[in-house]
Amino acid sequence: MVISDAAREKIRAEMAKYPKPEGALLAALHLVQKQTGHISGETAQEIADLFGIHPIRVMEVVTFYNMFYDEPQGRHHVHVCTNLPCSLRGARELLRGLEAHLGIEAGETTKDGRVTLAHEECLGACGYAPMLRVDETYHENLDLAAAKRILDELE
Ligand code: FES
Repeated sequence: MVISDAAREKIRAEMAKYPKPEGALLAALHLVQKQTGHISGETAQEIADLFGIHPIRVMEVVTFYNMFYDEPQGRHHVHVCTNLPCSLRGARELLRGLEAHLGIEAGETTKDGRVTLAHEECLGACGYAPMLRVDETYHENLDLAAAKRILDELE
């Protein structure tokens, strides 16, 4: 069993808040991913069993939203926005610089498991381009040197 008893209790409490229990699926995925780091096929099956739905329904949601992961991830997620406004202000060069700095490409995780790097569509901070998100924190108006400092401070 992958999902802890405590997480199962919290999921059931979330399900009780909705007319249809499936309304709590996003909350459940957040809870479980916080515990497990990603949503594996086995985990999706357990979530599906809790909700009484097919596991493909769970994976549809996991693979639709970019805040859920179906593969093991680094301890920190670094998402560089490369949509048009950020790209016009150097985001693609920023991403290339961070790839070189970390020795990985976007979509990969450093060998020490510290960082998973990704490029992202608009994160809603276009006025502060270029920007990136580290886990839940936005960093804005960046240049490569500032972005490298942020990454170097991650444990
Ligand atoms: Fe980068 Fe919107 S285009 S935050």
